[in-house]
Amino acid sequence: MQAWRRCWALAGLVWACLCSLRLLIWMGQSKHHVTYHPIDLFMYEAASTHQSYAQQASASHTLEQAVANYLTRYKNHPPPNFDAWYRYASERHSMIVDDFDSIHRDLLPYFALSPKEIRDRTQRLLQTPWHNATGITIRDGKSAISTHVNDDHRWMMNGLVEMIGKFSEWLPDMEIAFNIHDECRIAAPWEELHTMRSPAPLDTNVVPRNQYSRNRAEQWQTVSTEQSSDIVMTDLSWEPIFHSHGNAHCPANSAARTQRHWDRGQLCTDCAAPHSIGNFLANWTDASDICNQPDMADLHGFYMAPSAFKTTHQLLPLFSQSKAPGFSDIVYPSVWNWLDKAKYAPNDEYPDVPYANKNGTLFWRGVTSEGMSPDRGQWEGMSRQRFLHVLNNINLNGATQAVPIQYDVEVPPDPIKHLPATTRQRYVYKKVPISTFTSLIPTDVHFVHKFLRCWDIDCPHQAAEFGLAEPTDFQAHWQYKYLLDLDGAGFSGRFLPFMHSHSLPFKAALFREWWDDRLTAWKHFVPLDLRAHGVWATLAYFTGLEGQVDGHRVKLEPHLHQGELIAGAGREWAQKVLRKEDMEIYFFRLLLEWGRLTDDLRDEIGFTVSASA
Ligand SMILES: *[C@@H]1O[C@H](CO)[C@@H](O)[C@H](O)[C@H]1NC(C)=O
Ligand SMILES: *[C@@H]1O[C@H](CO)[C@@H](O)[C@H](O)[C@H]1NC(C)=O
Ligand SMILES: *[C@@H]1O[C@H](CO)[C@@H](O)[C@H](O)[C@H]1NC(C)=O
Repeated sequence: MQAWRRCWALAGLVWACLCSLRLLIWMGQSKHHVTYHPIDLFMYEAASTHQSYAQQASASHTLEQAVANYLTRYKNHPPPNFDAWYRYASERHSMIVDDFDSIHRDLLPYFALSPKEIRDRTQRLLQTPWHNATGITIRDGKSAISTHVNDDHRWMMNGLVEMIGKFSEWLPDMEIAFNIHDECRIAAPWEELHTMRSPAPLDTNVVPRNQYSRNRAEQWQTVSTEQSSDIVMTDLSWEPIFHSHGNAHCPANSAARTQRHWDRGQLCTDCAAPHSIGNFLANWTDASDICNQPDMADLHGFYMAPSAFKTTHQLLPLFSQSKAPGFSDIVYPSVWNWLDKAKYAPNDEYPDVPYANKNGTLFWRGVTSEGMSPDRGQWEGMSRQRFLHVLNNINLNGATQAVPIQYDVEVPPDPIKHLPATTRQRYVYKKVPISTFTSLIPTDVHFVHKFLRCWDIDCPHQAAEFGLAEPTDFQAHWQYKYLLDLDGAGFSGRFLPFMHSHSLPFKAALFREWWDDRLTAWKHFVPLDLRAHGVWATLAYFTGLEGQVDGHRVKLEPHLHQGELIAGAGREWAQKVLRKEDMEIYFFRLLLEWGRLTDDLRDEIGFTVSASA
């Protein structure tokens, strides 16, 4: 039982170098105290980040403007039938009209492959059921399942047919390979990706045809009923995959490719520093760059022992619901959310009361689904287990986390400027034992049902560590102010309902989804580092903290208003850009792009405004 003790020691933050150095640069102040709480600064920055995002994302108000904007952004004409997409989006009052950068990031490497090669690779994926990819076919404007689908995933494929059916009349004939696993799988290496060209420079003298090729159905070989055994992936389920696949997209000289973080009990401060201020997650975008984070290899179930991971280093065009940093899967909006598999639906028994009236407890319920723990204690490093450990103070041996607390400084009168004596508030970092946090700040975060995805000794060990709580109704979430959100085997299916509620979501995640550009951390939700070393300090900012540490009184005022602001801004923005309509609009545009990408005439087709006149 020594291994986990070392691992959990991560909870006790080695805070000194992080705080002193970065806060020093940040505030240009003495290394021991600062005027603002870092979260005040993050919220201030996030407001302007969001504002500039929203402005450029929704600049166009007419089709003409949207086309011109597309050309400027993506150095290409929009794909054929863009006018139909624009109509679909504007009829549904889409706030986001211009910024679909994530689609372009996902598809860009595939432009290095010929349309025929992309079609062949899709075919190869679908032809062999072993790959666990299921096809959707579009013919004559109708969508249908094209391959073998197993019963477990029929709901998902039916949902996809229905969702795509909303706009399939505008799509060209084609095949799409969907990943039925939660885990992403396409680990194209940096050596290949960094040389992949962007689309050929656009010849603006050529007027594109607003039409996909006519013979597309013949170009796509249909998947024969005879199942192939031609296997183009490798099965690394249950294996540690960071150093072979998780870091594949990173430059050859990056820390993730050249270094190993051997001492798992120590917080890797160099790994966290680029995206942190103190022990707070300062930049959500930078946090997803794992190329400087070799310690991640042992901090997430997906990297340590994914429950399903049939993978490849080849650029195979596979559509997935979410992906870990650097993977080349093409992300689409999950039908899990579109079908309301976890629905925000408060009712009389479980109302979503105003923020101020909610129970100020941090709440989480879930199962041990993040990865596999066959008998080698992998569970010790998984983020779900680590967060529950730190929040429930299990076997932490007196570990501490640093938290900025407030104290008053007497400011003497200034006779020259005619200022009277005052007091000013300063913050100083103080190491607080986790047991003090747990005695002062309420949390209710527990596993339910049973310990899954473990074998042998790893099940009883977890049972002894954590115990189980009663499962609760999903709608019971809304009674709590603070909702913890953690990855499972893939993305967390409950995050979008959390966003729609009056509660405040706290999110730690490796996996990123279709909406990642749309939300701004600290404006719409509270981000947490996967290392969990800042979880108490972050929570304490909102709840406040007042008690005795080492015989001294420590005090941090609660920031109830700030919590309410983020919860409210997140909910309001979610109602504008994370609706089911927004999922359809995103998917529609993605599939128009996919249609062009796979068209033999892709350099000659596109939408121009004159085409619609
Ligand atoms: C994946 O493929 C294997 C081999 O064909 C099959 O046994 C398994 O049931 C499939 N998994 C899922 C989740 O469909
Ligand atoms: C976060 O990091 C990204 C990428 O490095 C950068 O573009 C952005 O300006 C940063 N945001 C803030 C608020 O510093
Ligand atoms: C708040 O929630 C906690 C944990 O679920 C519970 O123990 C406590 O009784 C609740 N407080 C109130 C005032 O309902």
